Amino acid sequence: MERTLAILKPDCVRKNLTGKVLQHIIDAGFKIVGMKMISLTPDTAGGFYDVHRERHFFTDLVVYMSSGPCIPLILEKENAIADLRTLMGATDPREAEEGTLRKLYAESKEQNIIHGSDSPESADKEISYFFSGREIVSLTR
Ligand code: CMP
Repeated sequence: MERTLAILKPDCVRKNLTGKVLQHIIDAGFKIVGMKMISLTPDTAGGFYDVHRERHFFTDLVVYMSSGPCIPLILEKENAIADLRTLMGATDPREAEEGTLRKLYAESKEQNIIHGSDSPESADKEISYFFSGREIVSLTR
C-alpha cells in the first residue's frame, strides 16, 4: 500500500470546502491515516516548499500558505501518489480536467486548494515534515 501527503490549503479551509474535498478523497478510495489542522508560520511554509525557494512565486506561495489554517493529510491507497495527482488535476485550474478538485473548486494556480506529493521520495519527506510516527494510525486495529 502506498502513502502520499496531501495538504488542504488555506483557501480550501477558508471557503468551507474541507468537507466536500474530503468526501471526494474518500469516494476515490483513499484511507486517511493521518490528519491535523495547523497554521503554518512563514518559516514552516518556506521549509516545506524549500525546493521552490529560487522560483519567482516563492514569496507569494509562503504568504498564502501561512495566511490561515491548513490540513495536512496522510492518504493510503494502491498507487496513492499518482491517483491523488489525477484527482487534484493540473496546477492551474484552467488546465485541469473536468471533475478534478482544482477544476471544481480552485481559483488560480497560486490558490489551488490542495497539494499532493509528486514522488515516493517527496511523499516520505513531506509526511515526516508534518507527522511523527505516533500520529499515523493503523487501520488494521
Ligand atoms: P503545489 O502542488 O502545492 O506545489 C507548489 C505550488 O506553488 C503549487 O502547488 C502552486 O500552488 C504554487 N505556484 C504558484 N505559482 C506557481 C507557478 N507559476 N507555477 C507553478 N506553481 C505555482
